[in-house]
Amino acid sequence: MHFSEALPSRRGPAARLSPGATPQAHANGRNGASPSRQRVLLVDDEADVLCFVQSILEGAGYAVTGVPSLAQALRALAAERFELVLTDLYLGDTDLGHQVAEVARGQQPPTPVVVMTGRPTFDAAQGALRHRVDDIVVKPVDAEHLIATCQRVVRDTYLARRNQELESANRVLTSVLPRTIEMKDPTTSGHAARVVGYTDTLARRCGVGAEQRASLRLAALLHDIGKIGVPDSILRKPGALTADEMEVVKRHPAMGYEVLAPLAEHGDVRDWVYQHHERWDGKGYPNGLAGEDVALPGRILVLAEVYDALVEERSYKPAWPVDRIVALFRDQAGRQFDPHLAKMVADGLEGQGKRFFAAAPGQLF
Ligand SMILES: [Fe+2]
Repeated sequence: MHFSEALPSRRGPAARLSPGATPQAHANGRNGASPSRQRVLLVDDEADVLCFVQSILEGAGYAVTGVPSLAQALRALAAERFELVLTDLYLGDTDLGHQVAEVARGQQPPTPVVVMTGRPTFDAAQGALRHRVDDIVVKPVDAEHLIATCQRVVRDTYLARRNQELESANRVLTSVLPRTIEMKDPTTSGHAARVVGYTDTLARRCGVGAEQRASLRLAALLHDIGKIGVPDSILRKPGALTADEMEVVKRHPAMGYEVLAPLAEHGDVRDWVYQHHERWDGKGYPNGLAGEDVALPGRILVLAEVYDALVEERSYKPAWPVDRIVALFRDQAGRQFDPHLAKMVADGLEGQGKRFFAAAPGQLF
């Protein structure tokens, strides 16, 4: 927040504003706000100022509700949603503008507020901060500067809200979906989160770049999402599965690929989910891909997924000791696993034990 320059305007309302600089350009453009005119509540107790500022705002394309008092401002805020409140700080002799700001900022979602004042003192700035005002414009108002300020505050508010929405969507992807998989298949509690850590550690050691590692973490987190298409009677069956039941289970990588179809920009994530039960020797499923038919990140996921299954206790088996896992990786190098990867992991586990896979939890997303 800052005080605007107190430049008297020599131009008419919204003079020299290009159409592209108007709020409608934002409204109709990529910022995704409502295509209707953006609404501003304007509060000023001086009739000529109210009229002058209203004409500036309307000239720039805003739909303006102009009121001269606190009581009318509060009634307008209760009756209608505004994209912005622009209020004089002093209504009469009292800084009632702060009360307008307080009510606007208390709405859900909060309405941004710009305060106008002819007395830009330190106290005024402190008061504005306290009342979470977004910006202060000094009177006499410069039309161009006022419009630029309004546009910036509305845009920043929109972007902040959009960020919050994206963060929520990201939480759904990285938290809610894995929890859904684990509710479906309780034997794998915490499996996806651990596999994320293992894959990331291995990918770093193999020199996989940051962008691919980010995609790989997502694939690791969601690799078993296709299990939501496997009936509970099979997933939770206490004994061994029949051949037919096994065929149903083997569909889960393909179902995961389908579930993730909306992630069109993450084709590699979908591929690695699809391939996480393939084997180096081509005897895996669903497509029997062999060797480097599966890209390195996908081969890392194959190995990390098996490592977690071995090192953790499951309802049907105890946790394997490290030396037994090392023996399996050496035995399966070039069969189930990429031989170089399997050797690297076996050597690492032999030398460092489970610390070989130590990651930094919480920093992965
Ligand atoms: Fe799986």
